[in-house]
Amino acid sequence: MARFLHLTDLHVVAPGTLCSGMLDTGAILRAGVDRILAQMPAIGPLDGVLVTGDVSEDGSAASYDLAVRELARFGLPVYAVPGNHDNRAAFRAAFGGAAWMPAAGAVDWVVDLPDTRMIGLDTLVEGQGAGRLQPDSLEFLTHALNGAGARAVVVALHHPPLRTGIRFMDNIGLENTEDLAAAIPANCGPLICVAGHVHGVYLGRIGAHRVVTAPSLCSAFALDRRPDARVGFLTGPTGYALLDTGPDDSWTAQPLFMGDGPFDF
Ligand SMILES: [Fe+2]
Repeated sequence: MARFLHLTDLHVVAPGTLCSGMLDTGAILRAGVDRILAQMPAIGPLDGVLVTGDVSEDGSAASYDLAVRELARFGLPVYAVPGNHDNRAAFRAAFGGAAWMPAAGAVDWVVDLPDTRMIGLDTLVEGQGAGRLQPDSLEFLTHALNGAGARAVVVALHHPPLRTGIRFMDNIGLENTEDLAAAIPANCGPLICVAGHVHGVYLGRIGAHRVVTAPSLCSAFALDRRPDARVGFLTGPTGYALLDTGPDDSWTAQPLFMGDGPFDF
């Protein structure tokens, strides 16, 4: 079994600047790491931290330096895939010391843990918001699934293969969900596909398998399905998720800011 923190959409900017002219996402990340570390005694032991993209907002080396430094505070291996806001070269440089990072090309990777195979897929198409799995990434996935054996499988990518009903997000969704579905056999797994991008918790399916999206650590999008819905972000709720591939086989989203308590019943 393996247990991970699932973080996503950090949107860190270079120190001294603000995300969308408003959010100090470096400070938000620092405070978020503080809060999660404080919750660690309750969470229990973990095998790693999985980040499903948009580590950086501006693609700057300084933003990645800050993000990597903060993520290192968990004292756990960090695994990451790029999102549409990431710069692949800067992302590669930032996580270049990690054994899972391929030397060139798409940031597709496989990490094996006891009873679990984690597969990271690169959906970044630089210069656009929407994501796409390139043929090489789909082939990589096929090989990785073929070699998974009896392990539980986690497929991590930034753009989820689902639609939220939020028009401005669906317009920049995964362009070739059908190719991903075709690459995942119904009988492999147990398999869970984990993603980010939509800054909220959504449950979907890819064939017979589960798809979940984690809340962003820095902002949220209102579930507003009206055609004229305002394009923009909310300052919360923010959060993260916990993924467990063991007998419990669970994924749960956690808010960064809880209510008061606990109080006696
Ligand atoms: Fe994104």
